[in-house]
Amino acid sequence: MVIEFFLIILIIMLFLFVLKLNGSKSTFQENLHTQHSPLKIGHRGAAGYCPENTIASYKKAIEMGAEVLELDIHLSKDDVLVVHHDPTLNRTTSGKGNLRDYTSAELKELDAGSWYHPRFKNERIPLLSEVLERFRAEAGFLIELKHPALYPGIEAKLAEELRKFTASASITQPIMIHSFDAESMKRFHVLMPDVQVGVLIKRRIDDETLKELAKFASFINPKQTILNPKLQQRIQKHGMKVYTWTVNNKNRVRMFEKMRIDGIISDFPDYFSD
Ligand code: G3P
Ligand code: CA
Repeated sequence: MVIEFFLIILIIMLFLFVLKLNGSKSTFQENLHTQHSPLKIGHRGAAGYCPENTIASYKKAIEMGAEVLELDIHLSKDDVLVVHHDPTLNRTTSGKGNLRDYTSAELKELDAGSWYHPRFKNERIPLLSEVLERFRAEAGFLIELKHPALYPGIEAKLAEELRKFTASASITQPIMIHSFDAESMKRFHVLMPDVQVGVLIKRRIDDETLKELAKFASFINPKQTILNPKLQQRIQKHGMKVYTWTVNNKNRVRMFEKMRIDGIISDFPDYFSD
């Protein structure tokens, strides 16, 4: 009787052990061998090969297989949306001072390529409308509102621009907006709920904040150095996607490709797998 009792206990323990083993195996396989292929997003175009945020950079990114172009926008003195990373002109153009102090026509005069290499001397600061029109058939867009607090009303301006763009021809590629400024994304979402918005983060985020952001955001974009499977799962559990940035190391691109990341943003679009 006692022997039978111990045999039953042993069988139950064995059964539970096999169950646990299968469970952890399937989770492991799910995490590491997913069929899911992350969106290939070219950071400022192909900023590893060309002057960032220029037509040359976007062309290169598409040539290298980027599916989406990430770009940064500001407002000029005459309230035109232009594509540029810094709020000042000094680092990447022949101009000086704040971008906001120049009209779009004045900004067009500047050389936005020579700082990178003399062969790019003809590159100019593009208007957002130019980039959208030029690449509309070839790639999607991930537009970053850079320092929106500097430009009151920039969300409405962007919504107006996108409405014009979408009205002129049918849209076949994704258009998404992101920013470090969550309040700005919330405002944009109210103006244009059909366009997905995301919030960029570079620090730890708690579940309460994720829950709040999930009310309007479709994705959270963590800096690659803070992204791990746990953060990824917490974001996805709240129904949002994960696009990580800026992954410029080939091995790390591979690593993120094997996880269930929804998109990878890189200066080197040729690092993505086919
Ligand atoms: O795509 C995210 C990344 O662009 C945010 O940082 O400074 O490169 O615009 P930054
Ligand atoms: Ca950016």
